[in-house]
Amino acid sequence: MNSHANINFLLTSFLVLLGSRIACVMVGLPATGKTLISQKVCRYLQWLGITTKVFNVGNYRRKLHGAHQLHDFFNPANPDGERSRREAAVEALEDMVYWFKKEQGVVALYDATNSTRSRREMLMAECKKHDIQVMFIESVCEDEALVLHNIMSVKLKSPDYKDMDPEKAVEDFKARIFHYREAYESITEENLTYIKLINVGSQVIINHIQGYLQSRIVYYLMNLHIAPRSIFFSRHGESLYNVMGKLGGDSDLSARGKQYAKSLPLLIATHLGNSEQLTVWTSTMKRTIGTAEHLTYPKLAWKALDELDAGVCDGMTYEEIEEQYPEDFANRDEDKFNYRYRGGESYRDVVLRLEPVIMELERQRNILIIGHQAILRCIYAYFMNHSHEKLPYIKIPLHTVIQLTPSAYTCEEKRFKVDIEAVDTHRPKPKAGAPKSATDANPETPVEASASTDAVKPAAAVGEKDCGATITTTTMSTTTFRDSAF
Ligand code: ATP
Ligand code: F6P
Repeated sequence: MNSHANINFLLTSFLVLLGSRIACVMVGLPATGKTLISQKVCRYLQWLGITTKVFNVGNYRRKLHGAHQLHDFFNPANPDGERSRREAAVEALEDMVYWFKKEQGVVALYDATNSTRSRREMLMAECKKHDIQVMFIESVCEDEALVLHNIMSVKLKSPDYKDMDPEKAVEDFKARIFHYREAYESITEENLTYIKLINVGSQVIINHIQGYLQSRIVYYLMNLHIAPRSIFFSRHGESLYNVMGKLGGDSDLSARGKQYAKSLPLLIATHLGNSEQLTVWTSTMKRTIGTAEHLTYPKLAWKALDELDAGVCDGMTYEEIEEQYPEDFANRDEDKFNYRYRGGESYRDVVLRLEPVIMELERQRNILIIGHQAILRCIYAYFMNHSHEKLPYIKIPLHTVIQLTPSAYTCEEKRFKVDIEAVDTHRPKPKAGAPKSATDANPETPVEASASTDAVKPAAAVGEKDCGATITTTTMSTTTFRDSAF
């Protein structure tokens, strides 16, 4: 592990040991991105290994008072509505406090409008009693066209408006915003900890930010944008080490790997869109730089994108590791995310060293990352919200381009498989009780069942489906494209 990752890891551990508890309290009118921001911060911190949870007061309101409440429910002059909304806010607050205690929570996102001073004072008083720091995140959006777009693209799909005529739903939501605006009090108190994002971060005001975690959150928020874009992932073309089943190293591409590199420009151009710009990121290793060779977009080589360091096992096959380091081999199967190779890295270390890459990815528009198996698993898990347990087993096959297109609350995924054979380097987690030999057949993928080693088998003919998202897989031959959704 490099020294940067070491420091990050120690800091994260300290925060937990020191009992840091931060409630990020969202503030803002409806449809100003509070839920999206809460979910993103939660996903980012969970990915870093920080226990984080979102408490969405809207969900408590729907549970306590039903989903179909029209705008008058939100009118500050309506005492019944006011009481019911406060009830939902208090229940969410109680659950949040309980979660901090019982689950050793570190960061909670308390997602509601919290648009009045009195509501925020109530939250602060309760948090103070339980030694929870409060950091407000206010989103101010003066762009009416954007708010309307948010209503149309997100709010009409809310359970609040299920089965309602869309035009009536838009009018009702606008009336809801009008009620909130009447009572809205922006944060101005100098003694409070807050970040105010104005017009999607075109202006940012920060006040009294303290400590490591709060400043990480602020930095993350400052990098967010909502412009449409795609992130493409590809592993390097098949390498000579891949063919031999060896881990790590810095080998050249195989003949098939070089062929894959030649096929990339057409594939990327086809799916990028004509007027779109793209930047290509590679690691500093020969196999990713060689794979990018024929692409004519601007390129950047990141050391942080180099493959997981297998330490003393670098250059060995899984079979050799099992033979020479049987205990390590078994430990890795036991807890692959946390297992650190002797003199090398664990997946946890890699996540921490990739944090600046994620930050930069959030700032950027279209990016193609030509990376390595473990690296792309970590980055993919961030976007697709996979747990640390699942992360080291995510299937990122060779000779396949993955396109992720983030939208409001989800990320659309497409996979394009190039019709050039490559070995399959995915080693599945052995089933509990099954023999743990490196040469075990993979019970989940019939393609691998007959292989003597899973490192020398041609890639399966279809893409993967273990990521909990809607995935489209396309097989691309060097001259034609064939779509097949599943
Ligand atoms: P509500 O109070 O009704 O729960 P909300 O403030 O939580 O609304 P979201 O549901 O998060 O709003 O709205 C999502 C939409 O907001 C998305 O379309 C997203 O692109 C957009 N969005 C994200 N960030 C911002 C921002 N800072 N300002 C305005 N819109 C944003
Ligand atoms: O086999 C290709 C490779 O990129 C190796 O260099 C690396 O050690 C390995 O994949 C990471 O995959 P896993 O963590 O499943 O062993």
